[in-house]
Amino acid sequence: MEKRETLPCVKVDKKSGEEIRLTLKDHKLLKTDAKITSNDDFIYLPLIRTLTEHEIAEIGVDELSTTEFELLKQRRTIEELVGLKPSFEIVGDIAVLTDEVANEQLVAQVIMSLHKSIKVVAKRISPVEGVFRSRRLKVIAGEHRTETMHKENGCRYKLDLEQVYFNPRLARERNRVASLAAHGKNEKEDVIDMFAGVGSFAIQIAKRAPQSHVTAIDINPAAIRYLRENMKLNGVSNIEAIEADIKEVYRAFTDRSDRIIMNLPKSAYLFLAEALSMLKPEGGIIHFYDVESAYDVSAENRVGVAIDKAKKKLTASIKKHEVQLEIQDARKVKVYAPYAYIVGIDAVIRK
Ligand SMILES: C[S@@+](CC[C@H](N)C(=O)[O-])C[C@H]1O[C@@H](n2cnc3c(N)ncnc32)[C@H](O)[C@@H]1O
Repeated sequence: MEKRETLPCVKVDKKSGEEIRLTLKDHKLLKTDAKITSNDDFIYLPLIRTLTEHEIAEIGVDELSTTEFELLKQRRTIEELVGLKPSFEIVGDIAVLTDEVANEQLVAQVIMSLHKSIKVVAKRISPVEGVFRSRRLKVIAGEHRTETMHKENGCRYKLDLEQVYFNPRLARERNRVASLAAHGKNEKEDVIDMFAGVGSFAIQIAKRAPQSHVTAIDINPAAIRYLRENMKLNGVSNIEAIEADIKEVYRAFTDRSDRIIMNLPKSAYLFLAEALSMLKPEGGIIHFYDVESAYDVSAENRVGVAIDKAKKKLTASIKKHEVQLEIQDARKVKVYAPYAYIVGIDAVIRK
């Protein structure tokens, strides 16, 4: 007979479900022997215990709840099978190990046997590096390829994990920015994505705001090639894809944009002059991303300190320009490294 138990859980909208599930799993807070439930709008993710205030903020949980879950028959876990719990992220049908593990061949085979949709297991052999922000991988099991098709928020992205930047953990952020663009005050927006990659933000915005026009720029030829393919795959034609260094082409877009996305977290602040000149004469909105660390503070204050540092960096960098800045929202987007976070800021600029 089916066993059921009432458990604490996270209630999350369907679009963000996978990302929060992965984060809870990483934090070892997801109860993996209880069956996740859902209704038309929400997913309920069972927890091993209720969350602390700090965990709620850190993970980006909107709502805690309690509900009844079906308990699953325990199948052997990866830990039992290989003696360790490898950490990996999934993009399309590729699992990428995020840490070094012993006995990687066995680990890879077990990952593929437990996750039937995974056809390739790879490991990272470099950090995200260079102007293209890509990283080198080594395939350790399965088909010999690094190209895949990833689904996110109702969009499909073809991409090669070695040739371009792509982070599945930004799904929630992309959904958030696309909602703002779709429901912004300006019915018909002119949006510029300065560092577009394979169109991760641009495609979602173009799809949800079909009346708007998106200019998507990237310096990486492979990213733009995939972006053009992804436009076709997703049936969007309201994107102009441009392969260029933004510093070389921004003048062609002077006074043009209502909304600008600046997803180059380590150096976005160095591109503010270009972003400001591309905003319409009356101003507009920038989505600014920054990496900040917080070492010498208690765990519960870390995120807040990183957010404050990002706000200060944006404010100080904007000061040199004769514009008014109003920070509408600032939040942790994801953990970048131990003690370091990617912070996202939505700011209104008036020229
Ligand atoms: C962190 S990735 C973000 C990609 C995409 N927005 C996403 O979320 O997947 C930054 C992107 O900026 C591009 N890039 C770096 N410097 C650039 C520049 N000067 N002009 C245009 N693109 C640039 C890189 O090629 C890379 O694709």
